[in-house]
Amino acid sequence: MEIMETIEEIAAFAEEEKRSGRGIALVPTMGALHEGHLSLVDKAKKLADTVVLSIFLNPTQFAQNEDLDKYPKTWNEDLNACENRGVDALFAPTSLEMYPDGPQSTWVIVEEITEFLCGASRPTHFRGVATVVAKLFNIVRPDVAVFGEKDYQQTLIIKKMVRELNFHVEIATAPIVREHDGLAMSSRNKLLTRENRKKAVAINKALDNAVKAAAQGTKDIDKLKNAISRTIEESGATLDYVEISDAETLTPLKRLDKTAVAAVAAKYGDVRLIDNAILKHGI
Ligand code: PAJ
Repeated sequence: MEIMETIEEIAAFAEEEKRSGRGIALVPTMGALHEGHLSLVDKAKKLADTVVLSIFLNPTQFAQNEDLDKYPKTWNEDLNACENRGVDALFAPTSLEMYPDGPQSTWVIVEEITEFLCGASRPTHFRGVATVVAKLFNIVRPDVAVFGEKDYQQTLIIKKMVRELNFHVEIATAPIVREHDGLAMSSRNKLLTRENRKKAVAINKALDNAVKAAAQGTKDIDKLKNAISRTIEESGATLDYVEISDAETLTPLKRLDKTAVAAVAAKYGDVRLIDNAILKHGI
């Protein structure tokens, strides 16, 4: 596996791969890799000849009061995981390499779909995500890029950006990978106390119950949302949001009369976790 820290190196690598007729799949990450990230590598390997994984803890998607400084860093483990999983090139730039002018003046802003869910509670988050992903696309010029459904809103935003700005890249997604007890894998799970780690299974349990209720024909969104909120709050978390939204536009629904996504953000201590589940409108 090749490890590259500069844009020049990775761009030259990617260009050479393409010249030799090999397609490139990009897996963008912020490191502290777990099986969720590595499942994206598995998918990437099926979709292209060469897999580039980026590790960049992108400061522009964190607000001042957020957990950028506390975000877990496990560089040596990440390196081994990438090597073992068959990543061909690891791109790990510094902040200075990605943002040489300091504060960014040019942003990619995706409107509307960013107004809901995480976009409502983290108003500058998605412009940071869209901007850094656009930069990575321009640097690596992948044929395909793989994103996880754990960040459901993020996948929709990236797809919209690619469509509306005519990026020549296909966006592939992969399902949420969970711990044995159902908690969605997240780099932030490492930050949970042992006690809160156990309590956090409530998020998945609450979403699972909603999936079952929807399949059995419950159409009342308030009822579904209240049940989710109760289960999570009773486990000791502070809710950021619980929403049931149109699975394509993310506009909140009043009745479950189309495919929806139930999305949750909740804090255990100061660790914010997100999760989601697709609700099919049953009978
Ligand atoms: P990060 O949180 O490191 O996630 C990188 C990718 O891994 C994202 O596509 C995310 O959805 C996926 N992922 C995380 N946990 C997962 C799980 N349990 N199952 C499946 N996929 C999972 O998302 C980001 O980084 C950043 O916003 C980024 C896109 C890299 C831009 O900075």
